[in-house]
Amino acid sequence: PAPSAYDTADVLVVGSGIAGCAAALAAAREDAEVRLLTKATRPADSSTDWAQGGISTTRGNPESLKTDILEASDGTADPDAIDVLLEDADDAVFDVLVDTLGIAFDETDDGELDYTREAAHSDRRILHVDAATGTHILRPFLTFVGDHDRIDVHQDTAALELLTHEGRVHGVLSDEEPGGRPIYAATTILATGGIGACYTRSTNPDGATGDGIAMAALAGADVADMEYVQFHPTAYAGGEARGGGAAEQDPFLLSEALRGEGALLKNGDGDRFMDDYHPNGELAPRDVVARAVGTEREATGEVVLDVSTLEGDFEADFPTIAETVLERGSDGDEIPVAPCQHFLCGGIDVDSRGRSTLDRLYAVGECARTGVHGANRLASTSLLEGLVWGLRAGKDAATRGADLELVEAPALRNSDPALPPRFAAEKFTRLQRTMDDYLGLERDPDDIARASAVLRRLKGEVDAYIRTRTARDLYELRNASVTALLIARAASENPDSIGCHYIKSEPESVAERPADD
Ligand code: SIN
Repeated sequence: PAPSAYDTADVLVVGSGIAGCAAALAAAREDAEVRLLTKATRPADSSTDWAQGGISTTRGNPESLKTDILEASDGTADPDAIDVLLEDADDAVFDVLVDTLGIAFDETDDGELDYTREAAHSDRRILHVDAATGTHILRPFLTFVGDHDRIDVHQDTAALELLTHEGRVHGVLSDEEPGGRPIYAATTILATGGIGACYTRSTNPDGATGDGIAMAALAGADVADMEYVQFHPTAYAGGEARGGGAAEQDPFLLSEALRGEGALLKNGDGDRFMDDYHPNGELAPRDVVARAVGTEREATGEVVLDVSTLEGDFEADFPTIAETVLERGSDGDEIPVAPCQHFLCGGIDVDSRGRSTLDRLYAVGECARTGVHGANRLASTSLLEGLVWGLRAGKDAATRGADLELVEAPALRNSDPALPPRFAAEKFTRLQRTMDDYLGLERDPDDIARASAVLRRLKGEVDAYIRTRTARDLYELRNASVTALLIARAASENPDSIGCHYIKSEPESVAERPADD
C-alpha cells in the first residue's frame, strides 16, 4: 500500500544507540506506541557499538565514584546530576542490561564479575565484555527493541527538522519520502549522539554530525558546555598496514582500560613522561593525558603505548584490540598513539528527566548536556549516562499525558536541481580542517575568531542550497556547521582554561622543563 502522508506516535525517539534504545524500552514499558528513527541502514552503526572499555557501576560505593567524576571534571560537574546518575546506575545496569537483555559481562576464573579500571577511577568498578563492551550491549538491545510489539523501528530514516509550533515540539520532518514525511508525536526524544564528523580524526562513526544538537538549537532549545570537546589520548596512529598497504584511516581506539591494567606511555626518546604532567601518571584525567601525548609527540616525534607492562596478557585480555592493531600493521609491544576527537561533554541542556528547555522535547545520551561531565568526562560514564537518562526520559515522556497535534510541516524540495558533485564532501573537508586547526586540543582566542568567521561563511553557503534542495548529506552538513559554530561561540565566550577547553598561553614544552624534572 502507498505510505500515508504522515505517521504518528506517542513517543518518537531519534537515534539507535544505548540512549535511544533505553528511551524506547522505557516508553514502551509504559504502554506508549513508540517510533524509533535511525538514519543508519544498519541500526548498530552508532558510537555505542564502537565503545570499548566498559560501563561503570558504583560497586557499592557511590560516594567514591562521585568524587572521581568531580575530580576528572576539575570540579565543574553538577553534583545533583551526578547524584541522579548514581541513584539509578546499578539498577539500570543489572535490571536492564543483565536481567532483561541477558548481557553476560566478563567474569574472573572464580565466576565473579570481572571489574576493570580505567584512568582517573580510584577503584575497579567497570563492567566489560572483552574491550568491545558497546557491541555486546547494543546488539541484544536492538534485537529486543526491534522485537517489541509497541516499538516500530524505521531505519535509513533521518530527522531533518523539528516540527514546532508556539514553542512546543510536535515531532520531526523525516526523509522517509522524497519530499519529506512528517512524524507527529506527543513527545520527541533526541538521542542522536556526538559530533565526530566535525573533525578529521574522530573515534565516532561518520554519521556523528551533531544532528540533534543542531535541530534543537535551530528550534530555540538551550545548549550548554559546547566548548568541552573531549579528545581521547590513545587512538592508533600507525602508518602502514601489514603487507605494505595504506593503513585504515579510521582512528582505532586503544582503550583506557589498557592503562588501567598497567600499559605505559613512552615518548619518541623511549622515556615515560606522564609523571611529569600529573601525580597519577598514566591514570590522570583524560584531558591531561591527551594534552601531554600531544605535547610529547610534537617534541619527540611520537608516543607509544607499551603493552608489555600489562598485568595480564594483551592478546588474551584484549583480543579485539590486539587483532585490530596487528591488522593495521603493529606487531610489537609498543603501539603508536595520538589524541583524537572522542566525545562532546556539552549538548542540549536537559534536566534530571531529560526534558530540554523546549516543551515536549527531550534529549539523552551524547547529544544531551545533563551536567554529569562538566568540562571533562570520566571514562566509562557515557554508556551509563545514556542508559540512565534514556530510561528516565522514556518513562517521563510516555507518562506525561501530552496530546498529539498535527501542526503544519514545512514543504521540502526534491533534490532538483542536483547539488554540484562533491559539494557536501568538499565543504565537510573545509569544516573539519577549520575545527582541527582552531578548535582542537589547544585553542587561542585569535584562532577561535578565525574559525568562527570561516564557519559562518560556510553555513551561509549551505543555507543557500538548503532553501532549494532536500538531500540528507546537505542536512548533515548544515547540522555539522551549526554544531561547529556553537562550539566556536562557546569557546570564544570562555576565557578560562578548564578541562577539555584549554587556552594556549605559554605551553609547557619538554625543552622548557627544569633539568631535574
Ligand atoms: C575507552 O575505552 O578508553 C573509552 C571509554 C570511554 O570513552 O568512556
